[in-house]
Amino acid sequence: MRIAVLGTGIMGAPMARNLASAGHEVRAWNRTAAKAEGLGASVAGTPREAVEGAEVVITMLADGPTVAAVMDDVTLPDGVVWWQASTIGVEWPAKFAPHVDGPVMGTRKPAEDGKLTVLASGPGRERLGEVFAPVSAKVIDLGDEIGAGQRMKLVGNAWVLGLVEALAETIALAEQLDVDPRAFLSMIEGGLMDTPYARLKGEPMIAREFPPSFPLVLAAKDAGLISDAAPDLPLPRLIRQQMLKVVEAGYGDEDLSATIRALWQEPS
Ligand SMILES: NC(=O)c1ccc[n+]([C@@H]2O[C@H](COP(=O)([O-])OP(=O)(O)OC[C@H]3O[C@@H](n4cnc5c(N)ncnc54)[C@H](OP(=O)(O)O)[C@@H]3O)[C@@H](O)[C@H]2O)c1
Repeated sequence: MRIAVLGTGIMGAPMARNLASAGHEVRAWNRTAAKAEGLGASVAGTPREAVEGAEVVITMLADGPTVAAVMDDVTLPDGVVWWQASTIGVEWPAKFAPHVDGPVMGTRKPAEDGKLTVLASGPGRERLGEVFAPVSAKVIDLGDEIGAGQRMKLVGNAWVLGLVEALAETIALAEQLDVDPRAFLSMIEGGLMDTPYARLKGEPMIAREFPPSFPLVLAAKDAGLISDAAPDLPLPRLIRQQMLKVVEAGYGDEDLSATIRALWQEPS
């Protein structure tokens, strides 16, 4: 199929590469053009140029306002299926033309391995089997209602963000109490309290190195989207505050595990 990928950041780049490797004819556009190079896709100078002649258009951009700005430049002919994969929250989907609302669960590595989980809702998703296949291990069909995918995504991210913030506090507490934080990870290993995520995100927190899989600034965005959708929940609000402290200190491009910086005596 002829596929346009708009947005080749951490997630969009491996998605474009996997689609091209599967034999699709991929044209990629990214604001920073260099990130669209070397993916096996042809590189377009504008979103409009990328979309010309495409049968499927994928947006994998930072947030709702970015998707709106990029798609403003584009007219989708009848019959073209738009897969909107970015996490944009519950308000934005209704503002867009009919599309497949398909945010994804999974981060850099699952994106590289073609093992994302797609949360697909909205019209046209039944036509995307060949597009979902090279990028995903699982597609959850959430029905015809545009926005159902985003709602499920916020639920998934409430869980992920809660885990990471609880982990950050647990490791910070261990360090304050002079307990080896790796001994904490060993203590829970293999038991009911364990989760692979504890090691995945705990090791970078302990090593104080945060190469980005999921940029902190986007995690803070998602905590805000959850808060906006459910203002009565205290945790997403607190998590957003913590993350924004670190973003404002200049570390927004680091991984979300860098939220632990907000708990250090010296936040750098
Ligand atoms: N990383 C994850 O673990 C993960 C997992 C699931 C879902 N998501 C979601 O997937 C989406 C993409 O995330 P990502 O991790 O790939 O982030 P990323 O690497 O930061 O990529 C963000 C993309 O948005 C573009 N962008 C940002 N502001 C823009 C603007 N004003 N105009 C035009 N383009 C703009 C960036 O272009 P430049 O390259 O020019 O900056 C880049 O293509 C987000 O909605 C995120 O929440 C991420």
